Amino acid sequence: MHASTPWLLTLSLIVGGALAVSAAASHATPAAKPAYADASYTPGAHPPSAKQLEALGKQLFFDRGLSASGRMSCASCHSPDHAYGPPNGLAAQLGGMDGKQPGTRAVPSLRYLQNVPAFSEHFHDNDGNDSEDAGPTGGFTWDGRADSTHSQAALPLLAANEMANGTAENVARKLQASPVAATFRQLFGKDVFQRPKQAFDKAVLALEVFQQNPAEFYPYSSKYDAYLRGQAQLSAAEMRGLRVFNDPAKGNCASCHLSQRSESGAFPSFSDFGHIAVGAPRNPDIAANRDGHYYDLGLCGPARTDFRNRADYCGLFRTPGLRNVATRKVFFHNGVFHDLRQVLRFYAERDVKPEKWYPAGQNGKLAKFDDLPARYQGNVNMEAPFGGKKGGKPAYGERDIDDMLAFLKTLNDGYQPGKRG
Ligand code: HEC
Ligand code: HEC
Repeated sequence: MHASTPWLLTLSLIVGGALAVSAAASHATPAAKPAYADASYTPGAHPPSAKQLEALGKQLFFDRGLSASGRMSCASCHSPDHAYGPPNGLAAQLGGMDGKQPGTRAVPSLRYLQNVPAFSEHFHDNDGNDSEDAGPTGGFTWDGRADSTHSQAALPLLAANEMANGTAENVARKLQASPVAATFRQLFGKDVFQRPKQAFDKAVLALEVFQQNPAEFYPYSSKYDAYLRGQAQLSAAEMRGLRVFNDPAKGNCASCHLSQRSESGAFPSFSDFGHIAVGAPRNPDIAANRDGHYYDLGLCGPARTDFRNRADYCGLFRTPGLRNVATRKVFFHNGVFHDLRQVLRFYAERDVKPEKWYPAGQNGKLAKFDDLPARYQGNVNMEAPFGGKKGGKPAYGERDIDDMLAFLKTLNDGYQPGKRG
């Protein structure tokens, strides 16, 4: 829970400040204006509680007034009715000043991110005795470039193709003119808008606290959770699907999309948050891809800039969790697939029937891994279910796919025992 540290720290600073002020106030004579009245550090009369911050964060999350177009909130892309994922099947959403600027990546769900580790190039899973270096792991976004949901929230608020506010000061001005202004003054001090950077920071803090609400963001209310608690049984098909998903010789999915409780007993989020290249086909629906020289290479850029020279990191994206995945209409970082069955077939057939998944190149030869320049194609993962010989047998068949689809649906939140599903 590294993500909770910064706001807890901030909270304790605020609380500490308020105590110091009330102690000073009790010594002031009634008539005199207290010394802190005009001070820029004046905290609010009542230091904000986590509950107040959360309520404010929720309001901000749904506030369209916080975007340059006035039409876009966090919820426009991260829809609460779709597990805080995209509300539609668009590969990337439109945003910006005019609401027409295309994004470059599919919108991830905001659920079950509470255990995403901070980004690290050399991740050692210390849950067991496993001291193996798992390589680049963690961080927020598809390339792990944001350290926390806190620094993450700043990105869409400012990004030109999202909420498009440009600077923290612009956001602060919007806040000052919006219905939440009074709450801001009450919680963070009446002069909070004289320090726009701080006002912006508080907004981001509130958004972060909202995203830590368990009922909204990690309810663990799926049938699979009920099964792990011994409160539900999986159907025969769901159970077969789980076995294929776990079987190292078949799906081998659980080697990245962890399906078991951890040794500490935590329920799985269906990701080890490792960065891996699966060689997703190029998606012509991503506007940036109209430029044949543009490649979204994940960890090595261009959105992320600190590993530009790491050729061995090109094509790697953070493994997404699979909870609520059956409610999505768009899959992979570039949204190239729109049907979960297609994704499951891709895993089985990428290497044995590549002609089904990649187009012919200019020379007429098959352009396998066409979303990666040739020099990076060696980064693509070749372990099961991948790695079969062209023309060989897929790691699993259509019947297994039916079963895995049944299993993946047990990861949808909102399961009600007694009801079918
Ligand atoms: C225009 C659509 C759009 C809007 C508006 C938007 N997001 Fe996102 N969000 C995305 C996309 C796309 C990504 C993936 C970005 C990437 O990988 O570079 C993302 C990623 C994230 C992540 C990281 C998820 C992960 O799996 O690591 C968080 C957290 C997040 N957004 C929160 C927010 C908050 C809070 C707001 C409002 C202040 C917001 N988003 C507004 C599209 C949007
Ligand atoms: C070697 C690690 C690895 C294995 C094994 C693996 N995956 Fe993935 N999975 C990933 C990564 C990485 C991505 C994101 C790739 C991208 O966007 O380019 C992903 C994406 C997905 C997605 C899309 C989710 C979304 O939100 O867009 C689904 C569904 C999925 N995997 C299911 C499976 C299933 C089912 C299996 C087994 C048949 C499997 N995966 C095996 C690493 C893995």
